[in-house]
Amino acid sequence: MAKSSGRPVHREQVAFWRNGAERSFNVQVTLESEADQTGEHAYVITVDDITDLVVAQRSTAWADVARRIAHEIKNPLTPIQLAAERIRRRYGKVIVEDREVFDQCTDTIIRQVGDIGRMVDEFSSFARMPKPALEVIDLRDPLKEASFLVEVGRPDISFTRDFGDAPLVGRFDARLLSQAFGNVIKNATEAIDGLDAADRGQGAVRISARADGADLVVEVADNGKGLPREQRNRLLEPYITTREKGTGLGLAIVKKIVEDHGGRLELHDAPADFHDGRGAMIRFVLPAAPTAAGIAKPVTENA
Ligand SMILES: Nc1ncnc2c1ncn2[C@@H]1O[C@H](COP(=O)(O)OP(=O)(O)OP(=O)(O)O)[C@@H](O)[C@H]1O
Ligand SMILES: [Mg+2]
Repeated sequence: MAKSSGRPVHREQVAFWRNGAERSFNVQVTLESEADQTGEHAYVITVDDITDLVVAQRSTAWADVARRIAHEIKNPLTPIQLAAERIRRRYGKVIVEDREVFDQCTDTIIRQVGDIGRMVDEFSSFARMPKPALEVIDLRDPLKEASFLVEVGRPDISFTRDFGDAPLVGRFDARLLSQAFGNVIKNATEAIDGLDAADRGQGAVRISARADGADLVVEVADNGKGLPREQRNRLLEPYITTREKGTGLGLAIVKKIVEDHGGRLELHDAPADFHDGRGAMIRFVLPAAPTAAGIAKPVTENA
């Protein structure tokens, strides 16, 4: 029989839902003492919230893998491309038989190598996300810019903007925030496309922004196919996608940008007052600029 070893007799990682977010816990049961006369044991149960640790480990591992693979793939691409171009130039004139096949093959190599190069660039830009250059700006500006860019391409969807009348001032990198908002608004339109035509009805996206104490809150709600309940937070990891043409990098980049600004990203179901809660709502919580009252949270600054 186990003595007072302090060794865990059971250890398990479990996931719970709290406030619309999934959190991971490490639960450990340790036998504390030998059985007493009555034959009863004392156990110690410890519960650790390891959500942040798990997420941090995953993203560090990914960044490392992404950097290495990008490097190793990119190296041979240029010589392959140059060699194919050279073959085409050198022998293109000489070859008369099956000329079409020759052209087709060299073109394929050159085009595909170009595609791989672009994919790898995307991959490594994720691993080497630029640090934000913070400036005091009105958060509504990058939000307007990002939503405009998506809206012009989707006249079939009805967009509602509710940004309020007052500036929402914080220390942000406008370009990075615009990229983050754009990714999420684009996802919203794609979630609408993800419904069968019969279920779709009028696609709608609502973009809202407001101040909430020391926070600035941006929400993008859609009436699309909605987020899965199981393992929802895994969508924030790189390369998790359900779209045929998706890379799965969108939300991973958004999360990185938001966290680099000292904020957080939350994945929710659409609120009940929006198309009966059918669909998703992505919430950005970002720190407002310090005010005279000094209520704002500190913003980390990058050199
Ligand atoms: N608004 C949304 N409604 C429903 N599902 C969503 C929504 N936003 C994201 N998702 C789900 O999360 C997955 C990951 O999103 P993410 O933006 O990271 O990648 P992607 O859109 O599939 O590809 P990419 O953005 O690289 O083109 C999507 O494939 C989709 O399944
Ligand atoms: Mg996306």
